[in-house]
Amino acid sequence: MANIVITGANRGIGLALVKNYVAGGDRVHALCRNPDQAAELKQIATTSAGQLTLHPIDMADGQSIDAVAQILGDTPVDVLLNVAGIIGGRIDSLANTTFTEDDFADWRNAFEVMTIGPFRLTQALLPNLLAAKGKVMTVSTQIAASTWDRGGMYAYGATKAAVNRLMLSLAIDLKAKGVCVATIHPGYVQTDMGGPNAEITPQESAAGIKNVVDKLTLETSGSFFKWNGELHPW
Ligand SMILES: NC(=O)c1ccc[n+]([C@@H]2O[C@H](COP(=O)([O-])OP(=O)(O)OC[C@H]3O[C@@H](n4cnc5c(N)ncnc54)[C@H](OP(=O)(O)O)[C@@H]3O)[C@@H](O)[C@H]2O)c1
Repeated sequence: MANIVITGANRGIGLALVKNYVAGGDRVHALCRNPDQAAELKQIATTSAGQLTLHPIDMADGQSIDAVAQILGDTPVDVLLNVAGIIGGRIDSLANTTFTEDDFADWRNAFEVMTIGPFRLTQALLPNLLAAKGKVMTVSTQIAASTWDRGGMYAYGATKAAVNRLMLSLAIDLKAKGVCVATIHPGYVQTDMGGPNAEITPQESAAGIKNVVDKLTLETSGSFFKWNGELHPW
């Protein structure tokens, strides 16, 4: 039974990952902003015989990230899944609009949630990851890649491109310690973020992500994957 830590666990891809790992018999620590309001997670927790616990986290709040590390104590962490994400502001093109201070405040928050937050959580849980020789998988997006040929979505694309580079650096730095680090495009997924017309279900995405995590090794650490296991050009 592996110990799995998942952010953004209350809905979308994160919730599907929780269900997948619980069904596989693993011990899941589900992190979300408001555990009291996470009805589906609470339901799973009551029926999964101690396999699932809920803890509060706000990825933009370093103190709440450190508090999770306190709660986990010396529990070895086999897999940390950084899933929480937001679009981070308007998706418009500069050709059609002007960005304001409010937009820039949204951008800074997007960096906290999707770039600095995953780093801080990895740092806070590093002793736990080292104890397990664990794996860190951060959910990114195809929009992070230089091969994505559309404009707009400035905050989202920039924060995800940044976290890709950041996770590659961590993969290099932690390789000798036995910790694998990688990023993944989860597909275009039917969630609140992806919308109902997206290409795959959260369950399909989660199954693909879990498969990639299972197969991740120190040799492939640092890669940017697609949810189907292929390498994503970057
Ligand atoms: N859906 C897609 O097609 C798609 C494509 C490419 C990449 N992705 C990436 O996949 C990941 C999951 O996306 P999704 O589609 O599942 O999105 P979603 O359904 O909108 O869920 C987003 C999750 O992130 C959490 N979150 C947002 N801000 C947070 C914060 N400050 N602290 C902690 N948690 C926070 C949300 O919690 P609350 O309920 O509290 O807001 C929610 O659990 C994201 O990183 C996204 O960028 C998605």
